[in-house]
Amino acid sequence: MYYPEELVEEIRMKNDIVDVISGYVRLQRKGSSHFGLCPFHNEKSPSFSVSQSKQMYYCFGCGAGGNVFTFLMEYEHASFQEAVQTLAERAGVQLPQAEWSEEMKQKESRRARLLAVNKEAARYFYYLLRKKEGEQGLRYLLGRQLREETIKKFGLGYASKYSDDLTGYLKHRGYQDELLREAGLCTISEKYGTQDKFWNRVMFPIQDGNHRVIGFGGRVMGDGTPKYLNSPETPIFDKSRNLYGLNFARTSRASNMILCEGYMDVIAMHQAGFSQAVASLGTAFTQGQAALIRRYTDQVLLSYDNDGAGVKAALRAIGILRESGLTGKVIHLEPYKDPDELIKNLGAEEFGKRMEQAENSFFFELRILEREYDLADPDGRTRFQQEAARKLCNFSEAVERENYIEATAEKYRIGFENLRRLVGSYAAKEGLAKEIIRPKSGIQKKNTPEDGARRAQRLLITWLSEETGLYQKVKRYISPQDFTIELYRQVAERMFEALERGSLEPASVISQFEDEEQQREAAALFHTKLPVLEQTKKEREKAFHDILVSVKTYSYEYDSGQAGNDMDALRRVIEGKKALEELKNTHISLD
Ligand code: UTP
Ligand code: MN
Repeated sequence: MYYPEELVEEIRMKNDIVDVISGYVRLQRKGSSHFGLCPFHNEKSPSFSVSQSKQMYYCFGCGAGGNVFTFLMEYEHASFQEAVQTLAERAGVQLPQAEWSEEMKQKESRRARLLAVNKEAARYFYYLLRKKEGEQGLRYLLGRQLREETIKKFGLGYASKYSDDLTGYLKHRGYQDELLREAGLCTISEKYGTQDKFWNRVMFPIQDGNHRVIGFGGRVMGDGTPKYLNSPETPIFDKSRNLYGLNFARTSRASNMILCEGYMDVIAMHQAGFSQAVASLGTAFTQGQAALIRRYTDQVLLSYDNDGAGVKAALRAIGILRESGLTGKVIHLEPYKDPDELIKNLGAEEFGKRMEQAENSFFFELRILEREYDLADPDGRTRFQQEAARKLCNFSEAVERENYIEATAEKYRIGFENLRRLVGSYAAKEGLAKEIIRPKSGIQKKNTPEDGARRAQRLLITWLSEETGLYQKVKRYISPQDFTIELYRQVAERMFEALERGSLEPASVISQFEDEEQQREAAALFHTKLPVLEQTKKEREKAFHDILVSVKTYSYEYDSGQAGNDMDALRRVIEGKKALEELKNTHISLD
């Protein structure tokens, strides 16, 4: 681990989980836990619980769970190290500085300076928009039906009509010409000296996923050209790896993302309540952006302009989405040009309907393709079918391909077997697309059939963590070795150690794992549903006894299967058998 264990533990203890999560989710106290709507899946009634005593959260709906670090990792899509850093800062804990080479330090400080100057510029534009000077800008934005709160949320601003205004301001604040140039905020030439890049425009600051300003788009207020000016690429502004609006979209509760073309589209959609909308940055959609989206969802709804250029861009985007293993659907905006206009004219509800009716991207492609052929003519029809068959080869998975062949055959009234044969012949000639790796869904499947061993081991861990006094009674029968699943055994080891000391903190057991999946699984171990409390004591004692016996039995059977010539395992088998016999005949009271 990168940071020492004690430090991680100190940071965890200084960040109360109820406090931290309350900053993101509305929680209500119910009994010994706090409940709220789960931010990791869509639900109407709260199954997301946060326990102050355990310092853990767990969702009974989707299985998300962990400690305060896991929460940040899942919610902010941060790494473990980043979560530790954020919470250290929140609690005012000093972290040791990493050992950086001189070159790394310089690079970092250059990036930091670029971020600082961008932030300063964004603040200045924002300030000007509300001054007399910026009146025209504000009027323009309000005229486009943006609400005051929306303008504020996106930090929109105004660049003065004098082309040395920003540079003058920033220089006065101590920033060097060279930095301004590197940030793309000004140009320096022999003839004109330093000159602002943006002037007399409304300004759209472009933020990265962490709300840091990395560049700008500036729009003319009216019909001038170019309509938008954008910051050039800089060490902090990589257009192919950022998306406009992602800083908000990443925490949207929607299960999909909406991809559109323009800054204004994103803003209009967020204003209408679709906070999962993002746009590429004045360039075509890229693989890098698809990879970014894939961190949050596998479903993308395309909402591109309803014109020739928009359709072309959509077709390209569909290809990229498919290669990245994302499902794309196309939202139809007719008779409007773009989502901004549609929402303005028909409202958010209608846009929601259009989202539901979004077209499968493959059929969208076919519909566009179809325009090039005369389907009434046998020749045109044949060529269209050939082209369709060729496209069907892009589905690398057999089942999926079959389904698409069937649907296409039906839709275009082609004989299924004929089309299938045609696809087969192209596949033989040109090969199928290579297998796509699907992203793992953030949401766990419910009710996965757990095998008995797993279940008993989980129950035992939860039970012991809730009634820690039982540990002393069972420790002569059960040891961490009895947990046959690797992760469970690791948890049990930490837990038994802590119980031996008499100070179990389940949340601290979880920080031993750096991987989010492991943390989630470890958290689940502490949240198994125990036999209900209403049961009589006798019934509960029997249930507990059954669990112990079944954990021990599995472990014994497991060791027997493994033993072979391994003396250690053989010894465990013999001891296990003895313990099991004894356990079966022992009454363990829950008092
Ligand atoms: P649009 O022309 O559709 O812009 O270009 P828009 O965002 O919908 O703006 P409005 O509603 O007309 O004001 C889509 C995107 O292409 C980039 C911008 O990122 C823009 O948001 N673009 C467009 C440029 O970079 N430069 C341009 O001159 C035009
Ligand atoms: Mn547009």
